[in-house]
Amino acid sequence: MTAIRFEKDSDNIVTLTMDMPGQSANVMNADYRAAMTATVERLQKEIDSISGIVLTSAKSTFFAGGDLNELVAVTPDNAAGFFAMVETIKGQLRTLETLSVPVAAAINGAALGGGWEIALACHHRVCLDSPKLKLGLPEVKLGLLPGGGGVVRTVRLLGLEKALPLLLEGKELRPAEALDMGLVHELVAEPGQLVEQAKAWVRANPGASQPWDEKGHRIPGGDPSHPRVAQMLAVAPAMLRQKTRGCYPAPEAILAAAAEGAQVSFDAALRIESRWFTRLATGQVAKNMIGTFWFQLNEIKAGGSRPEGFPQGGFSRVGVLGAGMMGSGIAWACASRGLDVVLKDVSAEAAAKGKSYSEKLLAKQVSRGRRTEADSQAVLDRILATDQVIDLAGCDLVIEAVFEDRKLKAQVTEESEAQIDDTAVFASNTSTLPITSLAKASRRPQHFIGLHFFSPVDKMQLVEIIKGEQTSAETLARAFDFVLQIAKIPIVVNDSRGFFTSRVFGTFVNEGAAMIGEGVPAPLIEQAALQAGMPVGPLTITDEVSLTLITHIRNQARDDAAAAGETYVPHPAEAVIDAMVEEHGRHGKAKGAGFYEYPEKGRKFLWPELATRFARDDHGVSPADARDRLLFIQALETVRCLQEGVLETTRDANIGSIFGIGFPPWTGGALQYINQYGLQPFVARARELQAAYGDRFDPPPLLLEKAERAEHF
Ligand code: NAI
Repeated sequence: MTAIRFEKDSDNIVTLTMDMPGQSANVMNADYRAAMTATVERLQKEIDSISGIVLTSAKSTFFAGGDLNELVAVTPDNAAGFFAMVETIKGQLRTLETLSVPVAAAINGAALGGGWEIALACHHRVCLDSPKLKLGLPEVKLGLLPGGGGVVRTVRLLGLEKALPLLLEGKELRPAEALDMGLVHELVAEPGQLVEQAKAWVRANPGASQPWDEKGHRIPGGDPSHPRVAQMLAVAPAMLRQKTRGCYPAPEAILAAAAEGAQVSFDAALRIESRWFTRLATGQVAKNMIGTFWFQLNEIKAGGSRPEGFPQGGFSRVGVLGAGMMGSGIAWACASRGLDVVLKDVSAEAAAKGKSYSEKLLAKQVSRGRRTEADSQAVLDRILATDQVIDLAGCDLVIEAVFEDRKLKAQVTEESEAQIDDTAVFASNTSTLPITSLAKASRRPQHFIGLHFFSPVDKMQLVEIIKGEQTSAETLARAFDFVLQIAKIPIVVNDSRGFFTSRVFGTFVNEGAAMIGEGVPAPLIEQAALQAGMPVGPLTITDEVSLTLITHIRNQARDDAAAAGETYVPHPAEAVIDAMVEEHGRHGKAKGAGFYEYPEKGRKFLWPELATRFARDDHGVSPADARDRLLFIQALETVRCLQEGVLETTRDANIGSIFGIGFPPWTGGALQYINQYGLQPFVARARELQAAYGDRFDPPPLLLEKAERAEHF
């Protein structure tokens, strides 16, 4: 059975149906290449008896794109072979579009990456008008570029100015958007009309060809020698650098392939694109990103960290206690995914205020055409705002998001458990309190679990699931299903102070403050974080979290250590935070003064007195050290979490660090950062940092063992 069926009708129009045997989607693998070679050869041989071609798919998607298993295995050693293979794929598509008969794509489902590149190699694109259907070139999100002619054809169709944002952001388009941009030519309402419509176009356009193969074709908006385009290209690299900080080679390669390709013939441009593609595919950043954002994320979504043996579950009615910042966000996350929500606070007003958060988000979606009024109302109708605990009756899950106070949390646990079934799950959204200790207030601790959401809940995709000592496997499985049910990403961790994400996040924040204490200028610290690829600097985020909260958490940890008879080793950051709060009255962003000043009008700026009160000329910390310290300290703490069993898998560590803490995506996550650095070089560098900055950089035994055995995480 071949991956591409060849059927000729009575009008001599050939329909090529892509239908890879034994696979749920069509991908650009060896089967595809073999089938395409045979197909193109046959088309060439029989071209005199063919009046046109329609390309379509028998799968629910049109075509899924490149084969990532193949891509991730390419190394610089087999770059030449890879380049040749890419050129072959492109050569086939080039032949298809220059056969001298009209070629139409009948796009029945998603066409992303390589799939969209095949569609672009057709003269005409007819697409099913389904709001679920996505089109585009998202390769950049995996550290790659569209290497099947996508860069070259998009530039020649739209011009550099319009093509670049699409290529650089990897934007996925709905059919209607693609039609507006001229990327799709016709939409049809029913799948059954697709091929017929495509054939009608073929019959009506016997002399069709690609715009770039017509005499006198010019790139819309002009080529790079046009003054306007030249001006845009002169600043584009600097603007891009500001976004990528030099951490992401893919956008830079896309810009280069687009600009260089626009100055040469179509075929030379395709070759340039293949070279850049080969460079990216054999490079480390693409490996990091494909490994984590594709393979590990898919493993998580497929239930890799979910205990086996429990039927797939789902919740229908969720109680949310506390309608504050987190509770109102959690209510939205559930209601917008079709669950009924009981949002409870101490007063009806407070509960209603929490519900109004969903109202605002819905109004925005309606105004942007992403939801109908009726749909928006249906979501709102699912949220019952109340001050009555009795309304929790019938909830199969209750999530508590009241103040971070042990006594209060114990009280709401008891009063809710009196209302719900014995088998219902009770979850706490605590950010710092160990779940096992909170579960003491429960009369059925096996159904008690941590569901740690991140703020703002509507934007942050991660939920950290925390197992208490007595949490049952079934409760974990149900919590896992719930997180997927509301379309978020679950990672599973064991109980510990700060769990995984808050604990690692704390090391980043503390390292920034510690450097202030060593006399490092604040702008150097903030820049070092940005250059490493962190979304914001440690001083910025300290202000957001508030310095007061950090002292509060520290005091709690110190008291708990004393109560347990353990020695508490103060972090060098503590003296800085204490001085900021106690001596200088600077509590953080909410109070208008922290490491930054927050003028009523205008942008925030670093508190000028940091330069006079803390910074010293002889601090001796190079920018490279500052950058490495900020990433190493997080990676080392992640290894400690794995060593202590707080984390159980590499994928949870990588995904959790990126989606929960903002660890730079180019690294593939906190453990992949170590892998790609090389374990032995990483240990050596950690030792240098340890000698210069303290024992917190001491490589943990698990890292040393793995380095010695030449293993990786
Ligand atoms: P918040 O102060 O915005 O909201 C707490 C709400 O709980 C208030 O509306 C309060 O009226 C309500 N409440 C108090 N007693 C109650 C009772 N007996 N029954 C029902 N509601 C009651 O606090 P926020 O920021 O939403 O935090 C809530 C929880 O989530 C805390 O445990 C916090 O540590 C945790 N968390 C916070 C994150 C954040 O970024 N703010 C992130 C992750 C977790």
